[in-house]
Formats: sequence, C-alpha cells, structure tokens
Amino acid sequence: MTARPLIGAGLATLVLAAPIQAHPAHAPPRRATAKQVDAAAWTRTDTAEMDRFIALLMAKMTLEEKIGQMTLFTSDWDTTGPTLRASYRDDIRAGRVGAVFNAYTARYTRDLQRIAVEESRLKLPLLFGYDVIHGHRTIFPIPLGEAASWDLEAIELSARVSAEEATAEGLHWTFAPMVDIARDARWGRVSEGAGEAVYLARRVAEARVRGYQGEDPRALNTLLATVKHYAAYGAAQAGRDYHTVDISERTLRDVYLPPFKAAIDAGAASLMTAFNEYDGVPATGSTYLLTDVLRAQWGFQGFVVTDYTSINEMVPHGYAKDLAQAGEQAVNAGVDMDMQGAVYMNHLARLVEEGRVPMARVDAAVKAILRMKYRLGLFDDPYRYSDEQREKATVYRREFLEAAREVARKSMVLLKNENGTLPLAASVKRIAVIGPLGHSKEDMIGSWSAAGDRKERPVTLLEGLRARGEGVTFTHARGASSALGDTDTSGFAEAIAVARDADVIIAAMGEKWDMTGEAASRADLGLPGMQETLLMELKKLGKPIVLVVLSGRPNTLGWAQAHVDAILHAWYPGTMGGHAIADVLHGDYNPSGKLPVTFPRTVGQVPLHHDMKNTGRPVLSDTPSQKYLSRYLDVPNTPLYAFGHGLSYTTFGYSPVSLDKQSIRPGEALTATVTVTNTGKRAGEEVVQLYVRDLVGSVTRPVLELKGWEKVKLAPGERRRVRFTLTDADLAFTRKDMSWGAEPGDFSLFIGTASDKLQEARFTLTP
Ligand code: NOJ
Repeated sequence: MTARPLIGAGLATLVLAAPIQAHPAHAPPRRATAKQVDAAAWTRTDTAEMDRFIALLMAKMTLEEKIGQMTLFTSDWDTTGPTLRASYRDDIRAGRVGAVFNAYTARYTRDLQRIAVEESRLKLPLLFGYDVIHGHRTIFPIPLGEAASWDLEAIELSARVSAEEATAEGLHWTFAPMVDIARDARWGRVSEGAGEAVYLARRVAEARVRGYQGEDPRALNTLLATVKHYAAYGAAQAGRDYHTVDISERTLRDVYLPPFKAAIDAGAASLMTAFNEYDGVPATGSTYLLTDVLRAQWGFQGFVVTDYTSINEMVPHGYAKDLAQAGEQAVNAGVDMDMQGAVYMNHLARLVEEGRVPMARVDAAVKAILRMKYRLGLFDDPYRYSDEQREKATVYRREFLEAAREVARKSMVLLKNENGTLPLAASVKRIAVIGPLGHSKEDMIGSWSAAGDRKERPVTLLEGLRARGEGVTFTHARGASSALGDTDTSGFAEAIAVARDADVIIAAMGEKWDMTGEAASRADLGLPGMQETLLMELKKLGKPIVLVVLSGRPNTLGWAQAHVDAILHAWYPGTMGGHAIADVLHGDYNPSGKLPVTFPRTVGQVPLHHDMKNTGRPVLSDTPSQKYLSRYLDVPNTPLYAFGHGLSYTTFGYSPVSLDKQSIRPGEALTATVTVTNTGKRAGEEVVQLYVRDLVGSVTRPVLELKGWEKVKLAPGERRRVRFTLTDADLAFTRKDMSWGAEPGDFSLFIGTASDKLQEARFTLTP
C-alpha cells in the first residue's frame, strides 16, 4: 500500500548523501533519495564487458580453483559458529578459498588479500564478509529496536553508517539484513529482525538494503547485502533455535517469504540459506526454495551462500547420508557458496567427475560470485577497501555517533506512564539508578555488535543521566544480577539503602546482552534472576519507580505493569544508548516508538501476534462463564502490550475513518482518511497505523493485518489529515488454489494508534 513518505526530519540529509569515495575511473555517485536508488545496480546482467572478462578468467581456472571461489572460511578473529579451520591462510594461498569472513580492519584485510593476489596461482581477490547487523564500530539499536521506530529513513541511515564504517575497514559484504518474521518471543533471534508484521518487515528490509548497498557497487562506501535466513527460520518449533519448522505452504508464502522478495526487489545481491528444514527438506538442500522460487519465480540474479556449516548439517538432519551427498544436494539445489563447511572443497570435484553435479552448475555459481567481485572493483584494485587512512578518518565519526543517538531515541517505546512520572520533573533532584543494567557498558549494545567496542565507548544509562542531570545527585547499586537462575539477594540491602532517599528510582533491568541473538532461546520470558523480586522490594519504599527495560525480546512484564509508575523499553540501544535514554527520560525527546512485536502476559500464550486467525470459537468477551471457546482457563487471550502499542508524553485524538468510496474494483484505489490531533501539551510524533481484515475468503484470513502506517509530527493542538491509499494488490494473499491475488468481498479497514485501539470502516472489493 502507499502511504505518504515517512519523514525522518534531521536524519534525511545523511541518508545516501554522506561523502562517498568513488573509484577514480568513475564519477562520484550522485546524491540520491530512497526512491531514486537503482535497485538493479548490484545484479544487472547486461554488462558484456564484465562477462567477457569473467569468461576469459574462468577459461583459465581449474575445477579446484573454481571450487575455491565457492568456498568461504572464517578467520580466527571471531567465532560466530562452532568450527574454525586453522589453516585458512594456507587455503587462501592454495586458491582453495575465495571469500573470508570475521576478518576486518584495513591492515588485516590487506594482509590476507596480499596472500590471495600475490601468492596464489591465479591471484584472484578475496571477498571479505562480516555480520554487520546494527552498526560496525558505531553501534545502533538492535534491529528489533530500530523497527520499533517505524522510521524507514532512520533505519536506512543506520545501514548507511554501517556500510561507511565497515567498508572503511576492508569489508565488502555484510550478512544482513535478517528479515525472518518472528512470532515467538522465546526465539533469541527475534532481536535481529523487524518483528512479527509482514508489511513492516518488508519495508524495513527494503530500507536496509538501500542503506547498505546504495546504488553503486563500485563506490567505496557501499556494502553488498545478504538477505537471510532463507526461509522460515523464525518459525522454529517452540522458539528453540535451529529447531524443526513445520508450516503450511500458504503460511510460507503469505508470511515468511514476502520480506525476502522485498529485499531482492530492492536489489539485495546475495542471500543466505537457513539452518532449518521446510517441508522435510533442509533449506540448504531445497531446490524448491533456491531454484524454483528464488530464481525461476523471483528472478534472483545474485549469489547464494549457506549459513555456517549448514551443508554439513544436512547429515544430522537425516537428509544426507554423508558429506558428499550433502554437497551434491546443496549445489544442485542452487547453493553457490559453502560457508565454513569445507564440503565443496573436499567433495565437489569428485561429484563433478562422477557426473553427480553438472559442470554448468559449478560454472553458474562461480560466475555469480566473480561478477560480484568485478562489480566491487576488486579486479582493478584488490586493496581498494583496505585503506588505513580512510579507516582512521571514518570509524566513530562524530556524526555517526550523533546518528546512533538519534536512531536510539526513536527506537524507544514508552509502555506505561502514570501520574506524569515521565518526563522527569525539574523538581527531581535525587535519582537512584538501581539494577544490573544501569551501569553496564556491554549490555548497552546487545548481541551481533560486529567490531563495536563494548568496554569503553558505550554510554551507560547512569553515564547518560549524569551527563544530562546538572544539579541532580545520583546514586547507583546493581542490587541483583541479570544472570538466568541467579538467586542471590545479597545486593538488595545496598540497593534499598541507596534508593531510600531518592526522589525517583530508575530501575534498569532486563536481559544480559548475550541472552538474545543466535543460540539464545529461552523457555521462560520473565526478567532473569532476582530482578523482579528486587523491584518488589523497591516498591515498598513508596517512591516513584521508572523501569527501563533493556532486552531483545518481549518479556513478561505483568508485575511491573501493575505496580511501577512508568516503563520505557530501550531494547539494546547501542553505543550512545545512555544518552538516548536520558534524552527520553528528561523529555528532550518525546518517545514515538511502537512495538513491532506483541508482548504476551505469559510465555504460555506464545505464539501470540496481531495477525492471528479467528477460529470457529473466538472469545468475544472475557467472561469466565463462557466455556467451549478458544481460550485459556488462567489468562485472557489478549496480550500485555499489543502490537503497535507505544505511548507519548502527549496524547493524540483520532477522528472516525472516512473512505472516499464504499467499494472498489480491481486496480482502483481506495482512500481512507483520518484526522489526527495532538490533544496534549507537547509536540510529539504519532505512528498512525492501518490494518485490514478480509472478512470471508476461499481460505480463512487473519483478524488483522498491518497494511501501512504514517509517522506524523504534531505541535500541541495541531491536527493533520492522514491519508492511506489501498488497491486490491494490497489485499492479495495465497488463495485456495495457491494463486496470488485478492478476492472480491467485504473488508474491514482499521486505523488507529495501536492494533488494539482502532476505528473501523467497511468496504467491498467487487469483481
Ligand atoms: C550463523 C548465523 O545464523 C548467521 O546469521 C551468521 O551470518 C553466520 N553464522 C556467520 O556469522
């Protein structure tokens, strides 16, 4: 659907407009707005000169050298998986590896590149990749937090800054964006994506690809993106990482695939396969996913890399009897590059010789990879990204840090605010910061923080408040730890003593930085350790309590919601996080974030998301007397915080929804309008949300689906007409016969401030 463009005010100028160094042979890239970005620049195939060059090169390559281009190894600088191949330098020298990850800095990438281009037979340049997920050195909020901003320009900016810093440290390629829909808060990787809503995830995926890749692969500050993990990785049963996925084809197409398609349409030039299976076939061996859908249906022109040893893992999956068969399945399914598995290296030549893998398939994979190296300019100058001067001048630039602070402020979600507790009043002169995350540097930046310093640079909450709080005295105690299962209460006494004389207690609690991300699933969603008990003790002091939550997943915050005065969700806000939180607590920034995921009351409700189905026995009112309905005996079906929830220091009023017509035909546009008024006393931003329900379908349809939003900034008393335009294309889904399209019939259209606070209008789609 098309809403008017989102305005990320002050940030807009940095998006794609920062100084870009171009290869001398090319004119500097022009300034571009998001809309002007040439999405095909990274994958265009009509480049005869490039293909002539690659054909000549490939004619000189042995089969082993070709397989080398299809092999990716980690360096020993970082471990992001269970294995390490200590001989990777020898492998580079021998032409057995064409790409390296977990290696960065201008000097180190130059060092490894030198081995490749000076000591190997064909002198083919290496491609350097890394998990640059939410910043490279300057760390931005975790992706889920960024999604909570609903500000696409801010998200694009974060990716742009990541690309600036990463490419200045010798990197060509990031393993991002992660676009997996996450409906299960137990899954640790909920922190890495844009949450549960397909529409939001699609738009965020596009913004990230634009931010990383820009429009010119040869520009020295643009980074090759990888859309991952293809596909349905987020649907792991019971939220346990790497677990079995068993979903319908319809759910795959309607929910899990669209963000991948969006990223690819935005130009994403590489794609990573997932660890999980789909319909009994590991994604890394799935011809259906990698060839039929990705290439035949979607026309993907980039290259496909596996996740870490995921070819090898087809053996324990029980899909391949040995590594040779796994390699055969992967390459024939469409996998071009083997990450860390050494399966292609050890088995592919034999598979080709035995006729189990066509040579043409190997050639296609090698060509796709070499094309990317060519586009990056690596055949002209393999060291062009490894420039120490540029590195020094680029990392942690002041404007990058400012951007990180700005994006962090936008990511925060005010979950509760009673008695005008926030923003902190000028009369607050004594603040007690209590909790394990109040003054913990590494916990500010969360997991997947690339090369970001976690010891010195991150600004803690206490530091941020101190920097801002002239004339205010601060006390601090950890009180408890954030470790799972910790029962130690010996710090309580100090925490209570420290808090006793405060005007306000700021409790900084949540999960330790490494409790979300990969291999970080939880079976319980409560605040770990004794944190909630500490909160209960603090409550007894009778002081106003503000809970600042640092976490990468929805936690069950029911007790806090019932008893503390205000709750601010700050995710893991990044290098400048402490300043950003202080900006919000003091009201220098009026919070505008909205939840991109539903927060359950209890883990037993999971999966819980706004786009559920109705069932044949829906609960219409929560009266305990009605039995035989789709409900629990012990908790309501409703969440603690609905998708899209998020408060402001001001209030917004909504007029009824008006439609310009009651029915539309296919291709015709429907315009829905509301007037939103700032009814409070402060300027603020509101995310005006649009949802649709298809009332009757050839298959059952969700009770709500996000279809658009607009973020508007309003002065006190100001009102704005917000318009959304919908066509039948926005109502499309996988119909009963598995075709994609909308069905004529009646629809409800909803607009409002959150998925549980909406105004409804009805319209009809006629044939
Ligand atoms: C495994 C993760 O699943 C993936 O997201 C990441 O890119 C690779 N490891 C490389 O670190």
